[in-house]
Amino acid sequence: MTKPESYQHLDIRGKTHLVTKGPPTYGEQTKNGWRVWDPARSKLGSVLTQDIDVGLSKNAKVLYLGAANGTTVSHVADVASIVYAVEFSPQPMRDLLNVARSRTNIIPLLKDARHPQTYSHVVESNLDLIIQDVATRGQVKIALDNKEFLSPTGKLFLVIKARSENVVTPPELIFKSSIEDLSQSYAILQTQKLTSHHKDHMAIVAEPLPQ
Ligand SMILES: C[S@@+](CC[C@H](N)C(=O)[O-])C[C@H]1O[C@@H](n2cnc3c(N)ncnc32)[C@H](O)[C@@H]1O
Repeated sequence: MTKPESYQHLDIRGKTHLVTKGPPTYGEQTKNGWRVWDPARSKLGSVLTQDIDVGLSKNAKVLYLGAANGTTVSHVADVASIVYAVEFSPQPMRDLLNVARSRTNIIPLLKDARHPQTYSHVVESNLDLIIQDVATRGQVKIALDNKEFLSPTGKLFLVIKARSENVVTPPELIFKSSIEDLSQSYAILQTQKLTSHHKDHMAIVAEPLPQ
C-alpha cells in the first residue's frame, strides 16, 4: 500500500510501520516527519495495517465518535482536511485539547454521540467518513443516528466492542445482530475481526443506503 502524503507503510530500522506525516504527538517513533501509527494502540491503525480501505482519503472530512485522548484522531488529522472529534468524558478531552493545539483541523466537541442534535449546529453535513469507536451500549444506534452527517458517497468505519453491548452474550452473536441492525440503513462493505491487541472487537466498513 502506498498513498503518498496520506498514510503509507515505511521501513524504519528494518521493520515496516504504518505512518502518517504530522507533528509528533504522544512520544511515537518518527522518521523524516513520518509518525509511526501503532496498531496495538489504535483499532483503525490495526485495520489499515491489514490493507483494508476504510475511506480515509487525503483531505477527507471526518466525524470521529469516541475520540478519547486523541491518539488515533491525531493520525486521522494528518490525512483529513477536518476532523470533528466527539468525546463525552472530560478527562480524555483534556489530552485531546492538547493534541488539537498543535493542529488547525481538529474540532474537539465535549458531547455525547448518542445525541447528535447537540452538535449538529457545529458539524457540517456531507462528510466523507464517520469513524466510530465508542465503548458503550447501543453502538449500532449511534451509527444510525449519526448517518445524517454522511454524504451519500461517504463511508462509515465502525468498531463494535462486543463486551460493551453485553458481557454474557457470546461476541459472535453480538456481531451478527449488529450487522443485521446496521443493514437497515447501511450497505455492509467489509467486516474484520480485530487481532489480539483488540480482543472481542469487530470492524465494519459500510456505506449509507439511500433513504
Ligand atoms: C475505546 S475508547 C476510543 C479510543 C480512540 N478511538 C483511539 O483509538 O484513540 C472509547 C471512547 O469512547 C468514549 N465514549 C463512550 N461513550 C460515548 C458517548 N456516548 N459519546 C461520546 N464518547 C463516548 C469513551 O469515553 C472513550 O474515551
